[in-house]
Amino acid sequence: MEGNTDRPATKASMSDLHVIENGALYIENGKIVAVGADSEITARYQHSLSSEQQIDASGKVLTPGLIDPHTHLVHAGTRENEYAMRLKGQTYMEIMEAGGGIHATTRATQKANHEELYEQSKKRLDQFLLHGVTTLEAKSGYGLTLEHEMKQLEVARQLHDNHPVDLVSTFMGAHAIPIAEKDNPENFVDRVIQEMIPEVAKKNLATFNDVFCERGVFTPDQSRRILEAGKEYGLIPKIHADEIEPYTGAELAASVGAISADHLLKASEQGIKNMAEAGVVGVLLPGTAFFLMAEFAQARKIIDAGVAVALSTDANPGSSPTISLSFIMNLGCLKMGMTPEEVLTATTINAAHAIGCANDVGSLEVGKKADVTIFNVPNYLTLSYQYGMNHVDTVIKAGKPLVV
Ligand code: NIG
Ligand code: FE
Repeated sequence: MEGNTDRPATKASMSDLHVIENGALYIENGKIVAVGADSEITARYQHSLSSEQQIDASGKVLTPGLIDPHTHLVHAGTRENEYAMRLKGQTYMEIMEAGGGIHATTRATQKANHEELYEQSKKRLDQFLLHGVTTLEAKSGYGLTLEHEMKQLEVARQLHDNHPVDLVSTFMGAHAIPIAEKDNPENFVDRVIQEMIPEVAKKNLATFNDVFCERGVFTPDQSRRILEAGKEYGLIPKIHADEIEPYTGAELAASVGAISADHLLKASEQGIKNMAEAGVVGVLLPGTAFFLMAEFAQARKIIDAGVAVALSTDANPGSSPTISLSFIMNLGCLKMGMTPEEVLTATTINAAHAIGCANDVGSLEVGKKADVTIFNVPNYLTLSYQYGMNHVDTVIKAGKPLVV
């Protein structure tokens, strides 16, 4: 399976998987050196490998290592109490406005020291790997003060350094307005712009800058200012856009030149059109719609409009407590009308584009990092067909087979 490294796949090209039946890969020094028909690759390279260096994946499916382009991996605690409250009829935003939601996880994350936060996050990262993910994006946003935002980003960096999974970090100081400043949000916006962004950039702790642009959280105007300020420090914009209500988030993503706009459940037609024109990747998070019992994003409309779509778990303790991209693929097909081919493109090469790493990962191409997930299924259709199961057989990370 191959993809396009130069730009993300849109429309029909999202279905173009370049499947090689009876294929093989040759890997050297952590990189893909050759990919093609097993008969050719084996004849050419077998002599240079011992039998222990060869992996027999007959009857299985190899894909690029899966990429999750939107997670809130680094946080402390869980919120099953809020889940129970929502099942009784309270809404996500009501719970947040009453001091729960993101605020509850912020309290737990602020309280946790670096080691505790590292241990809790590492456990989740281990699970991601077991489910076939080799690269993921991780956001801050449960610190909401300079000290605690930095702690989250430092944990993410340490995980990137120590764990086989690669992490790409996003600063998301603008995830919620702290309760104490609810009535005077401008002070907090100023702190994000003047205090946090410069420090995050100085320590080189993030690649992206994300904002929760939503009624009752950050307005489009505040979001724009925060994203423009980040750009001055080299942080690339991302947006949590039009998740709960239509709020011109998609339009804003296009106008600030965001690399992606994420959620898009309520994105307007104009916003979607603008995203397509500006080349903003749409990261859809059907696990969140599923878990919040909301309407799903209109993936078909978004893809048909020419937006490159990626899929992600949105892994977080409030709106999507999962690490399973396979389940997200199932939801992509069954609840958003995507095809099995599209959901694979959306969790590999398009996901790589959504986090700016398509030159290195996201497809099985010569020269790329040898990140490969081997699934114990007879064909790729089975990946989004048999649901609620982990089909991962082996994960190869930078050429190293990790037993899973
Ligand atoms: O992407 N929408 C804002 N942020 C997260 C949820 C965070 C939380 O509830 O803890 C999201 O859905
Ligand atoms: Fe999110």
